[in-house]
Amino acid sequence: YFYDVRHSHQEILNTLFDGLRRLEYRGYDSAGVSVDWPVQAEGEVAPTAKPVVIKAKGKVDDLVKLVSEEIKGFAFDPKALVKAHAGIAHTRWATHGPPCARNSHPHVSSPNHEFVVVHNGTITNFRALKEFLMKEGETFESETDTEVIPKLCKFLYSRLPEPIPFPQLVCEVVKQLEGAYALLIKSSVYPGELVACRRGSPLILGMKYGIQAAATPRTPQSPNTPLTPKLTGTSTHGPQFFDNNAPANGQNYGLELFLASEASAVVEHTKQVIYLEDNDIVHMKGGEYTVFNWSDVDSPSVEVRRTIQTLTMEVSQIMKGGYTHFMEKEIFEQPETIAQTMQGRVKITPLSPMKYAVPGIDPYLMPRVRMGGLVDHVSTIRRSRRLMFIACGTSYHAAMACRQTVEELTEIPVVLELASDLLDRRCPIFRDDTCVFVSQSGETADTFRALEYAKACGALCVGVTNTVGSAIARNTHCGIHINAGAEIGVASTKAYTSQIVAITMMALVLSEDAISKRQRRDEIIDSLCQLPDMVRRTLKLNDQIKQLAAELKDEQSCLMFGRGRNYATAMEAALKVKEVSYMHSEGINAGEMKHGPLALVDDKLPIVVVSTMDSMHSKMAGVIQQLMARNGRLIVLANEEDDEMVDIVAGKYPIIQVPRVDDALQAVVNIIPLQLLSYHLTTLRGFNVDQPRNLAKSVTVT
Ligand code: G6P
Repeated sequence: YFYDVRHSHQEILNTLFDGLRRLEYRGYDSAGVSVDWPVQAEGEVAPTAKPVVIKAKGKVDDLVKLVSEEIKGFAFDPKALVKAHAGIAHTRWATHGPPCARNSHPHVSSPNHEFVVVHNGTITNFRALKEFLMKEGETFESETDTEVIPKLCKFLYSRLPEPIPFPQLVCEVVKQLEGAYALLIKSSVYPGELVACRRGSPLILGMKYGIQAAATPRTPQSPNTPLTPKLTGTSTHGPQFFDNNAPANGQNYGLELFLASEASAVVEHTKQVIYLEDNDIVHMKGGEYTVFNWSDVDSPSVEVRRTIQTLTMEVSQIMKGGYTHFMEKEIFEQPETIAQTMQGRVKITPLSPMKYAVPGIDPYLMPRVRMGGLVDHVSTIRRSRRLMFIACGTSYHAAMACRQTVEELTEIPVVLELASDLLDRRCPIFRDDTCVFVSQSGETADTFRALEYAKACGALCVGVTNTVGSAIARNTHCGIHINAGAEIGVASTKAYTSQIVAITMMALVLSEDAISKRQRRDEIIDSLCQLPDMVRRTLKLNDQIKQLAAELKDEQSCLMFGRGRNYATAMEAALKVKEVSYMHSEGINAGEMKHGPLALVDDKLPIVVVSTMDSMHSKMAGVIQQLMARNGRLIVLANEEDDEMVDIVAGKYPIIQVPRVDDALQAVVNIIPLQLLSYHLTTLRGFNVDQPRNLAKSVTVT
């Protein structure tokens, strides 16, 4: 957080803490903050200031508590105004070194915190750099990869024949780094300045221009001093923006700049943002910012212009809105988020167009599903030899739930790949393959690396993401935004159902020209139109599921059986249960039951059997009979009108009855009670459902 208006340290810290809270779901094992101290009487940061660094193991709230205690020892008035300031903060998801204050960010150079760094990403050559720096006499306090960065800054700075501008120094440092990073660097030798840069990890710059009566007057159009002969260019984006928004004469300007890994941390301050690109370096100084970019290690960085974009995200999306937890809110939001995914894309007519056909007009001349992001590539995708869906975690399960529909409608073979496994195998990909990258965050490192790999192989790359401006959204050739709104709960819920809807719509678009599929397409589209209502109805099962969770909460383990499209439901339900409630759970393809899992069956181990009235119904009825014959402890998930299943279960086992929708979409409805089950199991077991231990929402390291 960098600003050029008057704020107190307390305000600076609060802004940083609020930002951290928004990002906490990305990692939450420790946190840290750095602000300038001391400031002089006029509110300027003292030239001799040594940035204060405070770090704590645990959640952001633990850091807040520690800071309020430690701040007393600094003998400054947290309410006194400071004229200009750069503060940085970080919440960590451990990669190198266990979670503890020592390994937490910011990391510093010694002895005087000349350089203070926070980092998102992994530096893969840190061992070699560390060894080199140790030989040069540097000592290290942490086990992290990040600590080499401030130490390297200091090392290069101390060997300069004459001082160079801060961004130029950082450019020299990052050219030594391998791996991925988004970095914020402040420095006591460049007081009042901040440098941020990225490669491979996301970084967003938000800017807010305001008017502040108390600030010292300054000229907004002041020329930007050329930074160095090496860094070319003289103008910044700042003055250009001021010109368009110039307040009346006699008033003063204030600039606040926000840097964060994602938009949710800045949206409450501003909607004006720049998505920084790889090898961008942002320099903030004296109320202006300049963006540089370097393309190769032998060339200097040059000033670049980056487009300012307006965020469409609303602050309400990142609030709990009356719910106790984000996961709960996101589960209950699904009727709306599914409708949002379809909005403007599916013609919401309640029944198939044939039933409304006007004589003489072919209703099929008007496509009922449109996907603007695919339009230019539909014919190429239709000619593909294979469709490969590549994803991790829940997003992989969403692709799995759609596989049969995509195959059925497009008649193109569909392959599913876990991104990490595809990379491990260097799986062959061809120019006539279409690769579909499914990712809620659009930032998952494995999925992104797989995208780079597939692109290098010459495949057409399609993104299915929930995050505008994310790495996957920007680097695919075309794609679909699922428009489910920000998902904050670490366990993905609403993104999963919207992904299924989006991929199903993609299959409908791809099969638009197939006359033989018309009727089938219409059935699916009709069901899509009713899906939000069906999900709303399913959510009414909440009380029943809560009671079921109370019965199961002390179990050690449970199994989830499904088959066909609902194998994905079983896998996703098991993932939900294990990731938030820490109860062991396994998703099993019921077709494989006889080949091992049956050995686990007894009268104690709870088994959820997904047996709705899709094409797998009779096979699943057989599975239930076989489990009953072995005295299995079943919980049956069936359709509302399935009397046969009610007869089979005959009051012996709990039965969860959900509305019937088209086979292609039944997995959307079926997952809802199981999401609720994992939610209630977790709260009843007393765990933090939004921040399960050891996990992070966006895994931006490989
Ligand atoms: C992490 C999250 C999961 C998510 C997976 C893939 O493991 O905890 O909820 O499904 O990453 O994330 P993506 O953003 O690529 O969908």
